[in-house]
Amino acid sequence: MYPIHQVEAQADSLEQLGTKRKFWYTVGEERFLFKAEERGTGEDWAEKVVCELARLLGLPHVEYELAYFQSDKLRGVICPNMTPPPLSLVMGNQLLGILDDQYPQQVRKKFGIPKYTVDAVATVLGMLKPPSPEYMENVPAGVKTALGVFSGYMMLDTLVANQDRHHENWAAVLAETIRLAPTFDHGSSLARNLQDAERIDRLSTTNPQRTVAHFVGRALSEFYPEEGDRPLPVLEVFRRFSAKVPVEAKAWLTRLNQLSVAQMDQILGQIPPDRMSIPTRAFTLELLRLNQIRLLEGYTP
Ligand SMILES: Nc1ncnc2c1ncn2[C@@H]1O[C@H](COP(=O)(O)OP(=O)(O)OP(=O)(O)O)[C@@H](O)[C@H]1O
Ligand SMILES: [Mg+2]
Repeated sequence: MYPIHQVEAQADSLEQLGTKRKFWYTVGEERFLFKAEERGTGEDWAEKVVCELARLLGLPHVEYELAYFQSDKLRGVICPNMTPPPLSLVMGNQLLGILDDQYPQQVRKKFGIPKYTVDAVATVLGMLKPPSPEYMENVPAGVKTALGVFSGYMMLDTLVANQDRHHENWAAVLAETIRLAPTFDHGSSLARNLQDAERIDRLSTTNPQRTVAHFVGRALSEFYPEEGDRPLPVLEVFRRFSAKVPVEAKAWLTRLNQLSVAQMDQILGQIPPDRMSIPTRAFTLELLRLNQIRLLEGYTP
């Protein structure tokens, strides 16, 4: 089982960005963010599972640990600050606003933004360096650019059905250079808020409209096409980024091809059962298995 970290320290500031309750605390010299899971919607296990998948794939990622605050009153996850001073975080919307003064970077709205396109984000990424070396240790040899690394984030989003990669859920780290930040905030992935009754039904149904295969095909991103007014499916976003960096995207697919269903199940099996039920584990494994197949369609080693 993954260990559950007991947060002893008191909050020293609340995080303003994002929608859910969270606070920063300090241990020694290091600051950590506690992200609470208050509504029973599974964001804690989803965050941890995606973190572990990112590790196996070699993606630059923020490290999340399962956690409790004040004995077992508040469940959640913790992660270290990725921008200790003198580093600072520049969010995707701020970067998009630098290139396009019409980009709605100030509105508090994060969803339904037609200017949030693959081309706009790719242009921003073209100006960033890849994440700093400590995050790049397990990246495939051919992946060298920020855009190439980000194509891996899009592969991850497709694998885990992350529909929440809005313009404040990726960022750059500013120091003397400006680098793509490691991937973070995957708590909305893996259909973690479905009811178990629906999971069981979808796993066992013979109705083609209810199957898990049908369900995974419907995952939409926050990205808009240049030519339309409906958000793109997550797989299509990966394909569009891949077309810009085919060699790097293929290197990520090679990694994905090496990931076995047994490895994915082993990750799920390490979530304590009081945080993830048996039907949730079975459904989540099927979702991952089917998304891996969808991503690898047409892939040749
Ligand atoms: N490890 C970290 N280091 C530094 N800043 C962070 C870190 N994790 C999160 N943040 C900051 O806190 C904000 C909120 O965190 P996060 O996106 O994980 O939470 P959330 O409430 O789930 O967000 P959302 O509303 O996008 O679902 C981020 O947009 C980022 O600015
Ligand atoms: Mg967020």
